[in-house]
Amino acid sequence: MDFQSVKPAVGVGRKIYIETYGCQMNVVDSETVMAIMAVDGFGRADDLRSADVVLLNTCSIREGAEQRIWNRLDELAALKRRRPGMVLGLIGCMAERLAERIVAERPAVDIVAGPDAYRSLPVLVGEAVAGGRGVNVELSKEETYAEISPVRLDTAGVSAFVAIMRGCNNFCSYCVVPYTRGRERSREPETILREVRELFDAGYREVTLLGQNVNSYSFGEVDFPELLRCVAEISPLLRVRFATSHPKDISDRLLETMAAASNICRAIHLPAQSGSSSVLERMNRRYTREWYLDRIAAIRRAMPDAAISTDIIAGFCGETPEEHAETLSLMREVGYEFAFMFKYSEREGTLAARTMADDVPDGVKTARLEEIIALQNELSLESNRRDVGREFEILVEGTSKRSDDKVFGRTSQNKVVVISRGDHRPGDYVRVRVTDCSSATLQGVEI
Ligand code: 5AD
Ligand code: SF4
Repeated sequence: MDFQSVKPAVGVGRKIYIETYGCQMNVVDSETVMAIMAVDGFGRADDLRSADVVLLNTCSIREGAEQRIWNRLDELAALKRRRPGMVLGLIGCMAERLAERIVAERPAVDIVAGPDAYRSLPVLVGEAVAGGRGVNVELSKEETYAEISPVRLDTAGVSAFVAIMRGCNNFCSYCVVPYTRGRERSREPETILREVRELFDAGYREVTLLGQNVNSYSFGEVDFPELLRCVAEISPLLRVRFATSHPKDISDRLLETMAAASNICRAIHLPAQSGSSSVLERMNRRYTREWYLDRIAAIRRAMPDAAISTDIIAGFCGETPEEHAETLSLMREVGYEFAFMFKYSEREGTLAARTMADDVPDGVKTARLEEIIALQNELSLESNRRDVGREFEILVEGTSKRSDDKVFGRTSQNKVVVISRGDHRPGDYVRVRVTDCSSATLQGVEI
């Protein structure tokens, strides 16, 4: 063999640092990128200062998410002027959406790679090291990074996200994701099960199966309830969660599967977005308020102890005071445990941006959002108060933020409980009784 012709891998001697913005899927993507880079010899930098390659894994979901990244790019461009050898890359949704503009307006950026282009990152870094710029924002109909086991960046080693599908076909009229992440595709079940088994063997005790709409998972004969059942069978000591469910697709079979396995967590994230059927129609959500409430009733029948959380958008196109009031009444009627709440942010290229006026004034959006947040705080507090005196099993995740003498864990319902440290370690299951609460956390004692 002619050793002279074997080029050393581009990563040898180089360290990489990734900053992740946006959703849980981006967290997995960053871990997948780390795994891809490791094959080419890249090491992991503990901080920005020791990195040869800095990647920002970006989000486009709202204008504010992108604005943060433009600002961060300015800071990193300044850093790069002091460290000319540093390679700076933008990856993820904003890279996909705004590649041309980024290349034109930010000369400090060496690499631009979209969510389906991560296998080419080592090559793109090679181009950057050679003095060029590497750009790949091609979307794929097949890429699922199926066989790649992500390098976990969270060192606690208790809970991991596992991507089971990519992309989205729903085209909610406000949402940029189908444009930045492309068409929906499911990952081969065998590779998912293998990854989860490896995580369990490495000491992980919780996995969250991720997709934009996990209920439409489909690979050969395997649908989502079947996949969930197989994952839960790996071990009774493994907790299984999933996100996100689309209300139009959440089936009774899924609820039966959950109810039959005690290690599938009693928590369902079911984004309503609005409580008004007319707004839901404009959002192209393809369900009505009545349908949504019927699904909530089905969840309660199957699992009376399930926690239900949601996403709400305030001030969507044409939203009237009456329609907003319907959102508040839906929230009360469901009694959500938890919610992510946002002001509508128009995204270029979406159906709403093309065909509807973003006509709710910003001040009105803010006022409506504040009402929604205030109501949710009340609902969360009420829900937490109901838990005082009750017993739960928690999975310990780490030290409490407030006190070194305490640890925190989550209930099956995904609520955080803080207890005395004792000799509990991350990954332990502990039975607790809840003694007190705020709207955000529960306090408990071991029983
Ligand atoms: N404006 C505001 N919120 C949005 N979301 C998605 N797109 C937008 C937008 N254009 C919210 C939805 C979604 C969550 C991930 O982000 O509530 O469920
Ligand atoms: Fe995740 Fe959506 Fe943000 Fe992309 S745009 S990172 S899919 S939240």
